[in-house]
This record gives sequence, structure tokens and C-alpha cells, in this order.
Amino acid sequence: MCGIIGFVGREPAAPILLDGLARMEYRGYDSAGVAVRSETKGLQVKKTKGRLKVLSDLIHGGADLEGNLGIGHTRWATHGEPNDINAHPHVSENGRIAIVHNGIIENYLELKEHLQKLGVTFQSETDSEVVAQLLEYHYNECHNMLEAVGRVLRRIEGSYAFGIICADYPNALIAARKDSPLILGYGENGNFIASDVTAIIKYTRDVAYMDDGEIAVLTADSIDVFDDELVPVEKHRSTVDWDVSAAEKGGYPHFMLKEIMEQPEAIRKTVSPRIKNGRVVLDDLHLTEEYVRDISRIFIIACGSSYHVGMVSKYNWEKLMRRPVEVTLASEFRYCDPLVDEKSLVVVISQSGETLDTMAAMREAKRRGGRTLAIVNVVGSSIAREADDVLYTWAGPEIAVATTKAYSTQLVLMDLVGLYLADLLGTVEQSEYDAILTEVQSLPEKMQEMLNRDTEDIQYFASRYFNHDSIFFIGRNLDYAMGMEGSLKLKEISYIHSEAYASGELKHGTISLIEQGTLVVALGTYAPLFDKAMSNVVEVKARGAEVLALTTEDFREKMEKTADATVAVPVTHPVLQPSLGVVPLQLFSYYVALQRGCDIDKPRNLAKSVTVE
Ligand code: F6R
Repeated sequence: MCGIIGFVGREPAAPILLDGLARMEYRGYDSAGVAVRSETKGLQVKKTKGRLKVLSDLIHGGADLEGNLGIGHTRWATHGEPNDINAHPHVSENGRIAIVHNGIIENYLELKEHLQKLGVTFQSETDSEVVAQLLEYHYNECHNMLEAVGRVLRRIEGSYAFGIICADYPNALIAARKDSPLILGYGENGNFIASDVTAIIKYTRDVAYMDDGEIAVLTADSIDVFDDELVPVEKHRSTVDWDVSAAEKGGYPHFMLKEIMEQPEAIRKTVSPRIKNGRVVLDDLHLTEEYVRDISRIFIIACGSSYHVGMVSKYNWEKLMRRPVEVTLASEFRYCDPLVDEKSLVVVISQSGETLDTMAAMREAKRRGGRTLAIVNVVGSSIAREADDVLYTWAGPEIAVATTKAYSTQLVLMDLVGLYLADLLGTVEQSEYDAILTEVQSLPEKMQEMLNRDTEDIQYFASRYFNHDSIFFIGRNLDYAMGMEGSLKLKEISYIHSEAYASGELKHGTISLIEQGTLVVALGTYAPLFDKAMSNVVEVKARGAEVLALTTEDFREKMEKTADATVAVPVTHPVLQPSLGVVPLQLFSYYVALQRGCDIDKPRNLAKSVTVE
């Protein structure tokens, strides 16, 4: 939610800021803005409602703004509608301090009222502007920007990543962070701050991750970091191994399609290093056999698609481990007085590693004594750093707002972890263990084979069904869990109302919605329950539904006899079948959204990294 960037160096700042914002636009795209400082023109601020392109055109790709020091912002609106005034940067009343903010200032109203009583006039409805005004107030008191930032941080409550520039400090950029991501980049021609490494990898891979409560002062040649008492802190620097091309479309019309196509490779990268001599090896997981044997309950916590991975894993882990696994939405978990104790293993799944609800749920679980294991894609993200153990999915940067390759890599990694734990517990037969492991390794190849095939049939179905108002996804067991993801993909990018139902539950109410021509996507890829899936297809067909079925190649013929249209995926071990089944669902959503002329990579109202509650 919201992307911020800052640069100070020996090159014009504005084009660098725009370039970085373009790579972070998935974080929010309601409005965009930059503030750049130059010797001759002082602070120049340009901001506008709408996509970054509007801003870029307005300032001619940055050419209009002089100066080597600047900050930029792309917004996902929380406080105040998306308009020019509420867009960031926000500037203090005297026009000498500009800030960009990602997060939420919870006590902004109280602070705003206080400042208004002192005669300060506010321009916007945002919570963020209060920080610019408060900075001016404290700066006037102490005439030292670092000290003023420290004073402001002590007064505000909530989450933040800030980029701050001040007309009196022509060579310095100040940054601060609490509960919102912020990265420091050490470049040859200057230094950077950014919400996400993708914004700056074109310029540097040498980064450090700011911790909560830290303040950084950047100049063209140095980055000094302080704790909340303004005591200097030594930062550990690391090298990002993501490629610049990974954050570019590379000839594809959309990031989503590119990322769907990248799934075999992403799965290979996630799986290969973790299988050695026929065993799952999880070197980064520090759970002893004794601890694992003592686990009484496993919780899986996540949001959105990551939660859907948790749903698949619940079925698989319980099958493999014979231990109760509870999957809970992070936003519910944090307020449900969860029954977590020292014998609870709490697995949190998050692509971004920054989702606020997931982070808060993880902290709650830790507070109650649970041991936390994070499955995360972004190295150095907040969740990764706070969890007791972290296992990374190696999907690379995912730019499209709708997740595809991150989902797939989470799925296989959770399968590996389940197998690993089941092996420690002795609850999985050797033959089953070997069969799953062999099949995990052949997933990339099978998926590649599917993706190499002509997707004409899926495109045809998309053109046939794209006008439907409401679509149901039905399935049992793993197919139900996979249907949740299929349904979310469709609704988020094509704006078609869609629901996922456990097939057996239909007749308890929802089947009343099925009428002549209702589209039902029937999922029958889970071999042990294929016959049950067929019965449900017959049931909805009898009520007039048009059925688009998804099954495996060995059941294709049977399914074709009943369904109106059938897509078949290669057969793999039943526990892994969702990894292949989800691909046609992703493609179907993609092509439906394309037919409907939707903005596929940046669906309305959404943002990729949800750092607000
Ligand atoms: C849907 C999607 C979201 C995320 C959810 C959690 O395509 O991407 O539902 O899965 O916002 O995000 P992470 O995994 O970053 O915690």
C-alpha cells in the first residue's frame, strides 16, 4: 500500500524517482507525486490524481524538475479521496519541508486539532499531512532536522515509512520506519530509500533493511542510521540477487501473463535446493524432532491467496501428519483470542512479508508462546525478520497485483514442509514419501508442458463466458481449496461476481442460485473424490447450469460426457494436483479480464502489499 522512494546524489533526481515509482506502482495507483530540491528553485512539488503516467507527462519525464535530491510517492488512498490535494508529497505550511508517507498515523486527528489550535492551516484530508506540519513545528523549536524528526516520531502512533526533505538541508534525505517497509540503497552515484527493492535494483543491489524505530540520514556519499534515541546504529548490508529483467515485462503484454509463464522456473528454484538424495532438506528450519513430536496443534495464518494456500495445506498436512491443522484468516486470528500456547506451531504465509494483518497475527501468536514459521517471498521483509524461522519461496519479484507464481511456490513449499514434518513424526509411509517427492520434482516439467500447449481452448472459453455476471466454482477437498483461488483470481481482475463452494454444501442453500445458463466451473481433479465431483456436475446441470469442468487427463473422457466444456491437466500425485490445476484457472481469469478490457495488472481498488488493517 503506497510506494515511497527517495534519492540524493550526483544525478537529476526526478527521472530516477519516476522510474522507481513505475516499478512500485502495483503498491497503489490512485495518485502520484514527487518533491525535488534544487539550489536555484528550492522545493518543487508536483503531484496529481491518477496513474503515474499522468504525473510523468506533467513533468516531461522529470525534465521539468531540477535538483539531485528528491522524494516520490504512489498512493493507495486510505484517508481522503484520491485527488490532487490528498496526493503526496505533503508540504509544511511554510513550504520548506516535504514528506512522503506509507502507513497510517492513528492519532492524526488529535494532533491535527492541536496544530489547528496553534493556527496551522491544513490543505488535505490525509493523516500524513499532520507529520509535515508537526515537523515544521518542532523544527522551529530546535532548528535541527534530525532532532525534529525524533520529536515527531515520539508523538505519532501508527505505522509509517517516511521520506523527508527540507529546504534548509540541500544535501540530505531523512527516512524513518515503523511497521511499514523501508529499504536503504547504497549506490555509486547516490543513495536511495524505497519501499521495495524492485524500485532501485536498476541502480544498486547493495541494500540494508531499516528496522522499526530507526531514522536514517542519507547524503550522496553516506547513510547514517540512528535508533529512536538518536544513537548511531551499525547496519548489516546485503546484496539483492533479483535481476532487473525480473521486474520488467520482457515482451509480455501484462506482468500477470509473464508471471504465469514463469511458474515452472519459480517452482524449480523453490524445490530443487531443498531435495537432496531423495530427502527433503530444510536447513533453515530449526525445529528439533523433539519439538515437532510435542506439537499439539498447527495454525496456518494468512490473507487472500496465501490463505488459500493454507486451505490446501490443511488438507494435505492433516493427511500426512495426522495432527490438527487450523487455517485462519490473519484479520480474524488477531482478534479471536486464539488458543495458541507453547506447543503450537504457527505458520504464517505471505508473499510480500509486509501484510499488516498477517504481521499482527504473527506477533499475537508469539506473544502467546507459539513458535512461528514464515513462508515468505521477499527477503528481509518484516515478517521474515520477525518470525522464529523463515523459509523463502524463490518466485522472484511479483509485480502483477493478482498473485500467480508466488501462490504456486507457496503451495509447493508448504507441501515440502508438510512432508518434512510428517517424516519427522513417522506418519508417512516411505513409499508415499518417495512418490510425493518424485512428483514434486516433476511438477515444473508438467507445468511447462501445459503452458507450452496452445491456450486456444482457454481463450475460447473466456470469449464464450466473459459476459456472465456471476460464476460459481465448486469442488471438494483440495478442489474446493483450489476453487477458492480460482474464484478470487477471477473476481479481482475481471470484476465478475464469483463464489467458491464446497460441492457437497450446494444443496444446503446455494443451489437455489443456479438457473438456466448460470456458469459453474466444476473442479474434479482430486482423484479420490472424482465420482463425487461428477455427481455434483450432474446435479447443477439438472438445474440448467452451464458447466465448464476442470479435471485430470485420465478422467477427461468421463467428464466430457456430462460437462459442456472440459479442460484437462496432467496427472500428478493427488496432494500436488492443485499445483497443476490452478494454472488453467489463472489463465481463464486472465483471458476473461482481457476480453472485458480490464486493467489486468492493476485492478481497481486493490494494491499488492496490504500494509494497512
Ligand atoms: C490475490 C492476492 C492477495 C494476497 C493477499 C496477501 O491475488 O495477491 O489476496 O494474497 O493480499 O498478501 P501477502 O501474501 O503478501 O501477505
